[in-house]
Amino acid sequence: MKIAIGCDHGGIVLKDSILKLLSERGIEIIDVGCFDGESVDYPIYGEKVARLVSAGECDKGIVLCGTGIGIGIAANKVKGIRCGIVHDEFTARMTAEHNNANMIALGGRIVTKENSVNIVSAWLDAPTCDGERHLNRVNMITEIESKS
Ligand code: RB5
Repeated sequence: MKIAIGCDHGGIVLKDSILKLLSERGIEIIDVGCFDGESVDYPIYGEKVARLVSAGECDKGIVLCGTGIGIGIAANKVKGIRCGIVHDEFTARMTAEHNNANMIALGGRIVTKENSVNIVSAWLDAPTCDGERHLNRVNMITEIESKS
């Protein structure tokens, strides 16, 4: 499995812990930045990660900003991306099982480093699209995208 990760200055606080988790799980990583705490624009990093996932160069993506909201919204503008903005293990599991999320967004000002690792693990370990009902709804999202 290959995962792309990206963040802005608000999310960088979580990055090292998540990188460590991914390495420990033997996951290949593409880190698109940012690489220090200097103020940067989160849409740039949301898009970079989303494009890698959308193109099939990475299986999944993780994006981090202050709240997870801005970078998650940016990622969701890229075709084929379903980025769940998650705050805890429950929402991480649900966005895999119900939304087949191929990306998640976390907030460095919302969750602790310790929690971020548990949240990412919950998402990676959850089965995707649990049941036909959820798959139908995800297909409906794709239809909306194709009409846009
Ligand atoms: C940056 O200050 C902040 O706006 C950003 O990290 C994020 O929270 C946006 O949604």
